[in-house]
Amino acid sequence: MQKRLFSCLRTLQHENPLGLPRSGTPPNLRARMQRGLPEKRPIKDVKRVIAISSAKGGVGKSTVSVNLALAFARSGLRSGVLDTDIFGPSIPTLLNLEGNEPRLSSNNQLIPLTNYGLKSMSMGYLVPETSAIVWRGLMVMKALQQLLHEVEWGGLDVLVLDLPPGTGDVQLTITQQIELDGAVIVSTPQDVALKDAVRGVEMFRKVKVPILGMVQNMSAFTCPNCSTTHSIFGREGVIKKCVEMNIKLLADIPLHPSICEDADRGQPTVVAEPDSLRAQVFKDLAADLRGQLQF
Ligand SMILES: Nc1ncnc2c1ncn2[C@@H]1O[C@H](COP(=O)(O)OP(=O)(O)OP(=O)(O)O)[C@@H](O)[C@H]1O
Ligand SMILES: [Mg+2]
Repeated sequence: MQKRLFSCLRTLQHENPLGLPRSGTPPNLRARMQRGLPEKRPIKDVKRVIAISSAKGGVGKSTVSVNLALAFARSGLRSGVLDTDIFGPSIPTLLNLEGNEPRLSSNNQLIPLTNYGLKSMSMGYLVPETSAIVWRGLMVMKALQQLLHEVEWGGLDVLVLDLPPGTGDVQLTITQQIELDGAVIVSTPQDVALKDAVRGVEMFRKVKVPILGMVQNMSAFTCPNCSTTHSIFGREGVIKKCVEMNIKLLADIPLHPSICEDADRGQPTVVAEPDSLRAQVFKDLAADLRGQLQF
């Protein structure tokens, strides 16, 4: 008798705590789909949740997220950062935690990894660094649900969500399913980035998430040789956009080689150079948000 195709397949072997196969093969999600999408709910054991967003890629969301979360931690708060970028997670590198895998708690929740007093969770801890994540939408949504709801934060005053670029499925799912206290939009002063930033603002407005303000990143660059200040991506783009859209300007972060170098060696600026002017910008940002959200 001819063998049926599926009887030849081995049962899926789950190799990591999320139950997500390292091979990238999606599990059966039909049952989950039939139950429908979950309702908007808070992240368990977390008092305040702040999303860091920008529709444009590479403008500094992860840099701002990690330094902001560290600034919260350094001010004595119980702080965490959740990397919701499924395809390009940055937090393991930024916190020098690459290659570490989270353990599971007794009730099968992921235990965050901690460095510099900051708790973190990321897709980067759950799949090997070299594996390309080539999942379709449903698989991405499953991973996202688990990152959002199956992490044992163990009591946090504030959780910073590092969002992926764009205004697609992941962003919409987060804004529609999670009780966010507010969103911070990051942009460079360049026109092309600002156009996308406006789209990001519109998305949060549509789903009625309060916009706490915008951060202008990579504005002024002061030459280390001649001390002249250059505006590589423009100088005031975000400042003007804030006025136009009636949004608060939260911070103006200079373009500085140390910010990039600190990130690459897994010691964000707030940790590597805590007394620098650059670190102070992140500390001021943390203080502003803390004041706005009263925690
Ligand atoms: N103010 C800054 N000065 C110098 N380099 C910076 C600054 N902000 C960010 N960078 C660098 O720019 C690059 C992009 O930053 P980052 O990864 O934070 O952006 P992102 O918006 O999270 O990107 P993605 O959309 O891919 O998630 C990184 O190499 C980072 O170190
Ligand atoms: Mg990023």
